[in-house]
Amino acid sequence: MKKTLADINVKGKKVLVRVDYNAPLDANLKITNDKRIVAAIPTIEYLLKKDAAIILMSHLGRPKGKVVPEMSLKPVAARLGEVLGKPVKFVGGDCISAESKKAAADLKSGEILLLENLRFHPEEEGKNASGEKDKAAMNAFSKELASMGEVFVQDAFGTVHRSHASTAGIVKYVKDAAAGLLVEKELKFLGETLENPARPFLAILGGAKVSDKISVIENLLGKVDAIIIGGAMAYTFLKAQGVNAGISLVEDDKLDLALELLKKAKERKVDFLLPVDHVITNKVDFANKSVPSAAKVESTVDEAIHEGFMGVDIGSKSIEKFAEVIKFAKTIVWNGPLGIFEIDEFSKGTVAVAELVAEATDEGAISVVGGGDSVSAVKKAGVDKRISHISTGGGASLEFLEGKELPGLAALPDKK
Ligand code: 3PG
Repeated sequence: MKKTLADINVKGKKVLVRVDYNAPLDANLKITNDKRIVAAIPTIEYLLKKDAAIILMSHLGRPKGKVVPEMSLKPVAARLGEVLGKPVKFVGGDCISAESKKAAADLKSGEILLLENLRFHPEEEGKNASGEKDKAAMNAFSKELASMGEVFVQDAFGTVHRSHASTAGIVKYVKDAAAGLLVEKELKFLGETLENPARPFLAILGGAKVSDKISVIENLLGKVDAIIIGGAMAYTFLKAQGVNAGISLVEDDKLDLALELLKKAKERKVDFLLPVDHVITNKVDFANKSVPSAAKVESTVDEAIHEGFMGVDIGSKSIEKFAEVIKFAKTIVWNGPLGIFEIDEFSKGTVAVAELVAEATDEGAISVVGGGDSVSAVKKAGVDKRISHISTGGGASLEFLEGKELPGLAALPDKK
């Protein structure tokens, strides 16, 4: 168990907080979704109550060690100020410049400073100015950041799977460190759900590729009672069993692996549910996420997809079959959409499953949704408020489900 805010003394201290403000911006640099900004507010409010001076650190996008003005955190500072109803200081340019350091040194109790995008420095991601891996450069950068505060709080759940200067490296250079309230909440839901689930425990996994989810499936096979597979990866499982998948997105080099996973599920008595029918089409404009006007859209009668067609959503019989399992589940973990949900015509399966998960939650199940696409899907279905926990971590929640060690958490000290 890692130290949490309650375990460290932050009263009147200068507290460095790693947040994940990697918020989507539009072409006019307007924030289109402030979920991550809002999610870290409880930690900021806690620290304000303790009269701490708060120095926030984050990345935004992937500037790859260069200053990219469009990836400045300036708009985030403005939005954070609006959400908090309190000014947020911001120094542009360089997060460890003399100006940034002075702003940090001058910061008083109850004040908030947001540093500029950490990834403008290659050292944040463990590289030097020439773009080579350089541990010493990374350590030096961690040390510079650490020198601006006294204690460190890790609240960037979305980035804890990265072993970066500000997520893991910094911990050894501060007097004390702990997980923030958002990280604590994420661990409560994701961690306790996996360790001690109310049963039946169901995992719903979607998305395009089996290869992205192999480790998740392998890890969950030892824990769940049932797995529902949807999205394009279902076609790889079906083809592996000799079902015609037409021109669906199949990973032909993963057919043996798919059979292996099915065998493991059987050995472990895990109910492994695949779609029994599909919505299919002969053409999709993947780049524009649309259906060309000349495309034919049909439904299949069973698992098989005829030549020249690809599966793009689960069909109505699959929804009925999955509903029977979802409604009895007491714990549900969901990652990945069950079809091309961004296209309305192909979103019915994902939206229906979102509604079923919300209904199960209304009846007392614990539901945890992670991954950017599944989060958008529950929003699209209008059921996001009825889900027990929506993770702020895409890659991080996936790695958590894989059972991997997350460097940004591992670096934190244990509770005494
Ligand atoms: C995310 O958006 O998943 C996190 O902010 C991590 O970003 P990254 O994948 O660029 O490290």
